[in-house]
Order: sequence, then structure tokens, then C-alpha cells
Amino acid sequence: MSPKQTGTESSPAETKANSYAYHAKMNGKHCLVTGAAGFVGSHLSRRLLELGCRVTGIDCFTDYYDRRLKENNATSLLEAKGFKLLEADLADIASSRVKDVDIVFHQAAQAGVRASWGKEFSHYTRHNVLATQRLLEWARDSKPERFVYASSSSVYGHTGKLPMHEDDLPRPLSPYGVTKLAAEHLCNLYYQNFAVPAVSLRYFTVYGPAQRPDMAFHRFIKAINEDEQIVIYGSGEQTRDFTYIDDIITANLSAALSPNAAGRVYNIGGGSRISVNGVLSILKKLSGKKLSIKYEPVQAGDPPHTFADTSRAKKEIAFSPAVSLQAGLLKMYASFKP
Ligand code: UGA
Repeated sequence: MSPKQTGTESSPAETKANSYAYHAKMNGKHCLVTGAAGFVGSHLSRRLLELGCRVTGIDCFTDYYDRRLKENNATSLLEAKGFKLLEADLADIASSRVKDVDIVFHQAAQAGVRASWGKEFSHYTRHNVLATQRLLEWARDSKPERFVYASSSSVYGHTGKLPMHEDDLPRPLSPYGVTKLAAEHLCNLYYQNFAVPAVSLRYFTVYGPAQRPDMAFHRFIKAINEDEQIVIYGSGEQTRDFTYIDDIITANLSAALSPNAAGRVYNIGGGSRISVNGVLSILKKLSGKKLSIKYEPVQAGDPPHTFADTSRAKKEIAFSPAVSLQAGLLKMYASFKP
């Protein structure tokens, strides 16, 4: 059973006052959303359309997971007035017809921490590093007001101390993390040298309706619904600072609109650090089922813990996570109902 593709509705992560302010500031803007058919990109595009933006989405529909899930996301967006979709590889952005963009939200990536080893790595360099460099070159000429880059907590790796702070030395544990960090450095280079107003948001494990099917919560809920075995990598005592999708959308809006965010890097965490075993206890209660769990070896590239220090984001872009894990998980669980 695949999850229902639900929208962000009126986001609980936004207060009413913020929502009005976002509408006033975003209404009429032309936004470019890369990876618009993906998990974060489709939620973000929907919210931008609600705020009165014109949205051009770009997606190259890589086959990392079932294309139909991305097509479902795209179909619901195409029904909205103001949305246009280009099926294109960002490495070819220079030859695209995209013009007069006010804000770029660069969400496209070859995702997957554990899948980035071996011969797959060329996909990561192409879609995460080369594509970002091409997009930044395009932005250098097109001069958007803001360029928001979706970075990742995987740039940190094993920092040896928690919570993770933006000034900690990043030492990624996976090839994926290396490419996300490289793209962050590129954003900074284009800001320093050519004034591309890029800001990087380090997302901490995002979840919610329409989450990618390779990610933990999606796999767990699907297995529970289908009475299948849940696979845990390692002891299940690894922790993550899980972040609900609506908080990620709010962070993108704040980063796009905050006057001094260009050239900065921000942690975007959910404030809900918990172990994988802890998540399964909540899902057990929610489902009322006895769970069948199989433990497998720790996967190469998996950090033992993540935990975001979000004080810089709070101070500089007024971001604070608003959706608790209990509330977010309940929403995600409900979105899987047929
Ligand atoms: C997620 C995303 O997949 C990355 O794209 C993103 O960059 C990253 O978050 C981030 O925050 O930087 P991950 O934390 O591995 O990566 O997210 P999940 O797939 O939800 O996994 C969470 C934990 O559950 C991991 O320790 C993983 O090994 C474990 N897991 C996952 C299982 O035990 N079983 C599974 O079936 C899937």
C-alpha cells in the first residue's frame, strides 16, 4: 500500500501571523523548485502555490525509487494554477528556458546515505555536485534574490559531541555526505566570489506524508500495515533528530525572506531526538499491533547519532521547530490509510 499524497494544508509549523506575513511577502514571486516531484520539493511547491507564488518545478525523475510516486506528487501540483514542470537534468540548466526567477529552492539531490557507495557514486557526484555547480552558474547570470540550498545533517558525520553546531568541523561518514558538503562549499564560493545569495539549510532526517520509500519511517509503517518484518540496522539505539516536513517548509520560507541569511549555514532540526527503538515503541502504540523485528548489521555510512543545535537558526532566521515527534508521526501514520 502506498501512502496518500497529502498536502501541508495550513501548516501547524506556521503561526497565523507568520502565515499572513509569508503570504504578503511571497505572493506573486516566481520560485524555481528543483526536485519538485520529490518528497520535500513537492510539499514546498504546494505551500508556495498556496502563498500565491508562481512555481517552476524541475525534476529529472531519477530511478532511485519508483517513478510513480514522483509522478503522483507532480500530478497533484500540475492541477494547481501557477505551476509548471520541466523534466530536465539540472546539469543542463543553462540551456533551459527558465527566466526571471525571484527565489531558487534547490531541493534536488541523489538521496540515500547508505546507497552512496561503490559504482553508484557517479550518480551522487552528478546530481549533487555537478548539478549544484551548474545551477549556481545559472544563478550568477539570472541573479535571483535568494538561493536556498537543501543541505543535510550527513555533512557532520561523527562529531564526537552533541548537539551538532554549524561551526563544528564536518567529517562526513558517507560518500553522500561528502557530496552534500561539497555542494555547500560551492554555494559559499559563489556567494563570496559572485554574490549569489546562497544559504544552506542542513536538514536533519525529514519525515512526514509522502516520505521517500527508502527511509526508516516509511519502511516501518509500510511493514506494520502489511504485517511484515521490520528491519533495524544495528542495535536500534542510534538516535536521530527527526524533523517534520512542515518545519522544513517553514525553514525554507524563513531562509528565503530573512534579510541577512545569504552566505550562512543553518541547522534545521525537529527538536525530537529519539532512538530508532523509541520510534518503534510509538508506532507499536499507534498501530496496536505486535511488531516483528529483525536486527541486521549497522550499515556503512550511518552516523550513530544526530542532534541539531538550532540556536543560530532561531536567532538569525527566526526558525524554531513546532511539530513534536508524536504529532508528526501520527500525521504520517494516518496518511498511509487507504
Ligand atoms: C536521512 C535521509 O535519507 C538523507 O537523505 C538525509 O540527508 C539525512 O536523513 C540527514 O539528516 O542528513 P537517515 O538519517 O539515514 O538519512 O534517515 P532514515 O532512512 O530515516 O534512517 C534513520 C535511521 O533508521 C538510520 O540509522 C537507519 O539505519 C535506520 N533504519 C532505516 C533502519 O534501522 N531500518 C530501515 O529499514 C531504515
